[in-house]
Amino acid sequence: SNMASDGSAKRGLWSSRLAFILAATGSAVGLGNVWKFPYITGENGGGAFVLVYLLCIAVIGIPIMMAEVFIGRSGRHNPVASMRLVAERNLRSPLWRVSAIIGVLAAFIILSFYSVIGGWAASYITHAASGDFTGQSAEVVNQIFGDLLASPGQLLMWHSLFMALVILVVAQGLKSGLERAVNILMPALFALLLLAVGYATTTGHFMEAVGFLFRPNFGALTVDGILIALGHAFFTLSLGMAIMMAYGSYLGRDISIGKTAVTVSVMDTGVALLAGLAIFPVVFANGLEAGAGPGLIFQTLPLAFGQMPMGTFFGTLFFVLLVFAAWTSAISLLEPVVEWFEEKTVVSRGGSAIIVGIACWLLGIASILSLNLWSDVTPLAMFERFEGKTIFDLLDYFTANIMLPLSGLLTAVFVGWFVAKESLQQDINLSNSAFGLWLNLLRFVTPVAVVIVFVYNLMS
Ligand code: PHE
Ligand code: NA
Repeated sequence: SNMASDGSAKRGLWSSRLAFILAATGSAVGLGNVWKFPYITGENGGGAFVLVYLLCIAVIGIPIMMAEVFIGRSGRHNPVASMRLVAERNLRSPLWRVSAIIGVLAAFIILSFYSVIGGWAASYITHAASGDFTGQSAEVVNQIFGDLLASPGQLLMWHSLFMALVILVVAQGLKSGLERAVNILMPALFALLLLAVGYATTTGHFMEAVGFLFRPNFGALTVDGILIALGHAFFTLSLGMAIMMAYGSYLGRDISIGKTAVTVSVMDTGVALLAGLAIFPVVFANGLEAGAGPGLIFQTLPLAFGQMPMGTFFGTLFFVLLVFAAWTSAISLLEPVVEWFEEKTVVSRGGSAIIVGIACWLLGIASILSLNLWSDVTPLAMFERFEGKTIFDLLDYFTANIMLPLSGLLTAVFVGWFVAKESLQQDINLSNSAFGLWLNLLRFVTPVAVVIVFVYNLMS
């Protein structure tokens, strides 16, 4: 591959295909896998839902991921500049870059509250390790969570610590920052997950969990369930946030975008299934509710660990796993914004990471206060739809329901319809039939599916 001609010599490349796969999988694997996937699967018909979800990953997730990686690698710049360059090369309007602008903005906003939640997980490492849950009642365990959310000081401390860890990695750049972090964190995460599944097999309720996750119950599958599967395919693969564009901008020319996107998606799905097999046996062994909503991780599971043999050890391990998963996702959220800031200004990579990171940390404080002192502050309460929604709720709502699908939709339409087919095929480097399939999915299936979810979410 000719590195000098496309500017990659100066910006650097991932050292290997594996390095990219670990970083992209690190981004994809997060709370969506460990908490949300097992939970929505249980609620929507188990195996039947899993089948629909796999279909959504294949026909929507993988094609959009490939389109994002293509734009990044083709442009070899930050997501906004890459999108503009690819548009101009195809004699299209530079305005297409709004797709990447929305993505970068969404990454910035999401990171501000993702860091707050990452802080919860970090604080739970210390609770679990010091035996705070051991033998406690549900009231006491719930109180620990309530006390954390009610304390701006506690939340701020953990949010600051978490954001500092994220800045620390991104400030050191591609090789000594991102690559070094995922080379350590991802193998550790996989090892912890396997250990957690091993522990779950000793609870005596493992097969119950297998049935809960895999027994296809087509009767329980609703239109709602199908749309949830669709939306989750998007979220779980970290699409619509310019992340895969940023990561793709460091990908070598000789690496297959198609194979790599499939690998990352398979790993993400594998982790989601394993997380279900780790969590539900523990939940069932203690006679707890599987569909316990947001409290599942911070209330139900700690209660269960508190009752179990070696619960202190495995509870601590579980929250370390959760922090590692959140950390690699947060790194991927900061990267596109820092890449953009660094190229837009004369500030160095380190300085850019610190400036963007601090701005994001500041915005995070609004989410922290939404949980306590500002819990009555509902800026859009004049609209019925937003009644009772705090600043935290609103940031979550607008990014997840509007910005991500919009960015993903524009990217799919742009790559599918407005990039010259010949150059696309050359760059994507798939066989004729595979290329044709991908292009048709991107042109017809993906946009229709995204629009359906988009409209549905706005209406419900
Ligand atoms: N893909 C992550 C998950 O499944 C969520 C995420 C969204 C991570 C956005 C990074 C950025 O949990
Ligand atoms: Na995921």
